[in-house]
Amino acid sequence: MKAIQLADPDNPRSLELRDVPTPEPQEGEVLVKVAATGVNRGDLMQARGMYPPPKGESEIIGLECAGTVVGTGEEVGCLLAGGGYAEYVAVPEGQLTPLPTGFNLVDTAGVVEVACTVWSNLGMLAGVKPDDRVLIHGGAGGIGSFAIQLCKALGCEVATTAGSADKLEYCRGLGADIAINYHDQDFAEELKGSCDIILDIMGGSYLEQNVRSLAVDGRLVVIALQGGPKGTLNLGRMLTRRQSVHATTLRARPRPMKAAVVDSTVKNVWPLLESGEIKANVSKTFSLGDASLAHDYLDSGEHTGKVVLTVD
Ligand SMILES: NC(=O)c1ccc[n+]([C@@H]2O[C@H](COP(=O)([O-])OP(=O)(O)OC[C@H]3O[C@@H](n4cnc5c(N)ncnc54)[C@H](OP(=O)(O)O)[C@@H]3O)[C@@H](O)[C@H]2O)c1
Repeated sequence: MKAIQLADPDNPRSLELRDVPTPEPQEGEVLVKVAATGVNRGDLMQARGMYPPPKGESEIIGLECAGTVVGTGEEVGCLLAGGGYAEYVAVPEGQLTPLPTGFNLVDTAGVVEVACTVWSNLGMLAGVKPDDRVLIHGGAGGIGSFAIQLCKALGCEVATTAGSADKLEYCRGLGADIAINYHDQDFAEELKGSCDIILDIMGGSYLEQNVRSLAVDGRLVVIALQGGPKGTLNLGRMLTRRQSVHATTLRARPRPMKAAVVDSTVKNVWPLLESGEIKANVSKTFSLGDASLAHDYLDSGEHTGKVVLTVD
């Protein structure tokens, strides 16, 4: 089969389609013919040598895809630890999803990873409920744009951050109630200890402001470290307000845990996709052979929502 390979390990943009062995599914896995595969920021990090797959998983880039199961022809979405940037991928059965009704293969390839990430953190971990005020950082990105829609569908009040007037407008269009430009506003000053939950992608650089933004019993959930891994944590403030800080990744979880996440996400989120309360959010597609152009595009910061590669 053909798959994207890094031709020069020192050049993250040397992504080339090359012939590689077709994966052989092991016990509990199926072989999926990939039709479309989502581009995630983690893929750009992997190409830079900074985000290797968990031991034993495919070395090929790609954390989600949609396609057809070889042998049965069933159309599925797939949560992957790797291997999506290819014509075929072996997928643990517990990491398959149905296509949400009304979603095609491209839409599905752009929703599996964000849905599982956001639901596992906001729903399963932080226990989001109606009327919560939720702060979502980077609301115009793939994760953020999904999280805004999910929280609005659940009846929450949503505050979000983004880096330009256009992106703030885009976030408002998705339902955000409060949209803050992170370049010229201090979100902690704007929100003044009012957030029940924060979904954070910045890590260290936002730790102090995030804790200042939490309400009594507030939960900060960090899922990325775009602002570095270290910051200052005011435990005194947290202790009296019963606040907590969590940090998680989906990719590093063992397969049974991923299967539980997929199961809960399909039960709780797929109905919201099917009712249209959360919309498919793919803003641009590239063909698989143009993976490095897609990575350029994501790196440029121009995109909103999700970028997907299609396999011809
Ligand atoms: N832990 C996990 O399991 C997991 C799973 C999936 C993704 N992630 C991580 O989640 C992050 C988002 O992923 P994605 O696919 O949504 O990437 P993306 O579409 O590229 O989004 C990145 C976002 O970062 C925002 N941003 C940059 N600087 C910011 C700042 N100072 N304050 C607030 N927002 C800022 C950007 O906002 P503007 O464009 O408005 O500047 C953009 O919306 C990535 O770091 C990814 O690695 C983690």
